[in-house]
Amino acid sequence: MYEALFQPLKIGGMQLKNRIAMAPMATVADPDGGFSQVVSDYFTARARGGAGLIMSGALAVTDRYGAPASGWVGSPMHTARLTRLADRIHLYGAKFCLELTYGNGRCGCSDPSKPPFSASAVPTLQFPEVLCREMPKEDIRFLVRQAGKAAAQAKVAGVDGVVVHAYAGYLLDQFQSSQWNHRTDEYGGSLENRMRFTAETIAAIREACGPQFAVIVKFSVEHHAEGGRELPEGLEMCRMLENMGADAIMVDGGSFPTRWNRCIPTVYEEDGFSIDLARQVRETVSIPVIGQNKMNDPARAAEALEVGRCDLIALGHGLLADPDCVNKVRRGQADTIRPCIGCNECFLAICSGQNFRCTVNPYVSHEEDPHFQVPKAEESKKVLVIGGGPAGIAAAVLSAQAGHQVELWEKEKELGGNLNAAGAPSFKKDLRSYRDYLLRRLADSGVTLRLEHEATAELVKQGGFDQVVYAAGAGARKLDLPGADQPHVKTALEVLHRGEMLAGHVVVIGGGLVGCETALMAAETARSVTVLEYMPSLPLLRTEARNNQLALRQMMDDRKVEIHCGVETRSIGPDTITYRQDGTEHTIPADTVLLAVGFQSRQELARELAEAGIPLQVIGDAQAPRKILHAVREGLSAAVSLSR
Ligand SMILES: Cc1cc2nc3c(=O)[nH]c(=O)nc-3n(C[C@H](O)[C@H](O)[C@H](O)COP(=O)(O)OP(=O)(O)OC[C@H]3O[C@@H](n4cnc5c(N)ncnc54)[C@H](O)[C@@H]3O)c2cc1C
Ligand SMILES: Cc1cc2nc3c(=O)[nH]c(=O)nc-3n(C[C@H](O)[C@H](O)[C@H](O)COP(=O)(O)O)c2cc1C
Ligand code: SF4
Repeated sequence: MYEALFQPLKIGGMQLKNRIAMAPMATVADPDGGFSQVVSDYFTARARGGAGLIMSGALAVTDRYGAPASGWVGSPMHTARLTRLADRIHLYGAKFCLELTYGNGRCGCSDPSKPPFSASAVPTLQFPEVLCREMPKEDIRFLVRQAGKAAAQAKVAGVDGVVVHAYAGYLLDQFQSSQWNHRTDEYGGSLENRMRFTAETIAAIREACGPQFAVIVKFSVEHHAEGGRELPEGLEMCRMLENMGADAIMVDGGSFPTRWNRCIPTVYEEDGFSIDLARQVRETVSIPVIGQNKMNDPARAAEALEVGRCDLIALGHGLLADPDCVNKVRRGQADTIRPCIGCNECFLAICSGQNFRCTVNPYVSHEEDPHFQVPKAEESKKVLVIGGGPAGIAAAVLSAQAGHQVELWEKEKELGGNLNAAGAPSFKKDLRSYRDYLLRRLADSGVTLRLEHEATAELVKQGGFDQVVYAAGAGARKLDLPGADQPHVKTALEVLHRGEMLAGHVVVIGGGLVGCETALMAAETARSVTVLEYMPSLPLLRTEARNNQLALRQMMDDRKVEIHCGVETRSIGPDTITYRQDGTEHTIPADTVLLAVGFQSRQELARELAEAGIPLQVIGDAQAPRKILHAVREGLSAAVSLSR
């Protein structure tokens, strides 16, 4: 099945065993800028898992402009570690390319007193009043030389090629784009001049490494932004890249400043949304074209190869979520692939200097960490798990695999807990896929399942369990407000669980993730939707990754959801709601009022059980309302401690 995925491919002189590559994803380096052992184990696991090509995340070609957190290549100190990693990747039959970057330019200003270089003195993204420094020609020449040196060092270490980071509005793309490049020298003006820095980079790598060394260019064919690159110019530039000697083009669309969710996709993007862009590039050039962006479904990926939309598929999130996904497809076990839910906790982690973490894959960055392996139980215990949400399911499955006798009690007719509400909106299909995956794992685990079976202290005591894992989750908070007891005032959670279609004027109180997504869902059927938020800005700005925020805000704009922040809700009438903002009272129509004001852990039964002396672990939202990441991780933690 899916034979197209398992055909060999040649990129320049680099022979790949199959058509699935790991997309570049920035990792956190050791203090000296080289690969850490954690990162090395992480890459090795993806090679072992069957990917034909491993591309590193962006590595700077020098530390002259500050030590990049994701590392750099060019110091002899790094060679031994690089060689060891290349050897491990080759051991599994995969090839290895390093992504080389000149940095983020105007998109990377963290200190307004130190403006970064860009093509021209354009405003920095983070501080629009601060202008970039136009990069002098000596620095351009220095960077080009460094790219050649870095590639040469990589080649000595056994690396098979490089990916030139020339996309998404980062520094090299700033030179390529008339939007940011206003230079009057030979690096600005005409398209040829704007592409000169890229051309010199490819030439320097070629000169240093010869014709067999693969040179891939990651390139934004479109920016999807006002004033940004449009398709005809993008395709022309692809022709130029081919003429410059690129061996393959990795096709992207979007840019960091505006449409970053099209570069690092989120739960809100459609599967395979940029594959048609790859097709257009493939019809323009004769070198291999790499397609990407939510291409996790093997059927979709195989079809894209079969009909010639691209020559190679790159997976980013898919390989973070499941390092073995390629081998699973090859073995006909695609239904066991752990799906990504598009939350970008992975990205939030590296942005704060941590190694990757992943909501659905608690083992990422712990690939060789014995503490994260659930040991076989020395003594098989009788275990009760209370609650069939993600925390309870993870704990039950892993404990059963370790050899315990596990029962799972769920009070509702169906499993999934708040994952069912989280996945209710049409645009959150990825969460539904994840729930289905958890249910398949549970079905295969040997856990005894009792649905519509509500745990009480009495029943638990009668069961004679050695250990209870309490994963009863959290319920929605109510609001103490005049009029809040009327039937048209409901919690967002109720409406999501019931999949209720709303009409008329809908007002959502609370602008966190749940409030915003419920508002978006309501906007599919309601006449108007308004979000009232107490904080001065939407709280999701503090909890969600930037690309998820961008996508959500775009959808809210498209669906005309009104947002009022810094608002104090005063009272709810039969068909109105009254709030105060900036000292003025407003009354607006409200046929339905939805409360999205947070969650409260269900802890009463846990307290009773603890008082009765029953050995107990409290995990997931029952401990404190948070995210699926915590639920899954604590499920693993419960299983680990049961078996030790
Ligand atoms: C609308 C919405 C959207 C969300 N979106 C996201 C998101 O995009 N990303 C993210 O990471 N998180 C999201 N979350 C949060 C996420 O759903 C929760 O963090 C996660 O479900 C917690 O898992 P849990 O297993 O601890 O609890 P729950 O999922 O709440 O599961 C608890 C289970 O225990 C059962 N139960 C309770 N009492 C008993 C009893 N006495 N006996 C038997 N069974 C009992 C309940 O019926 C329930 O099935 C969202 C939440 C909501 C409500
Ligand atoms: C956490 C994370 C970090 C990323 N870092 C980089 C990077 O360093 N360089 C790069 O070119 N792309 C980077 N990307 C983008 C990916 O290479 C890829 O283009 C994108 O994730 C789309 O593919 P996917 O839907 O399979 O994840 C990153 C993506 C993620 C999720
Ligand atoms: S953290 Fe979220 S977005 Fe990132 S790979 Fe894991 S599930 Fe996907």
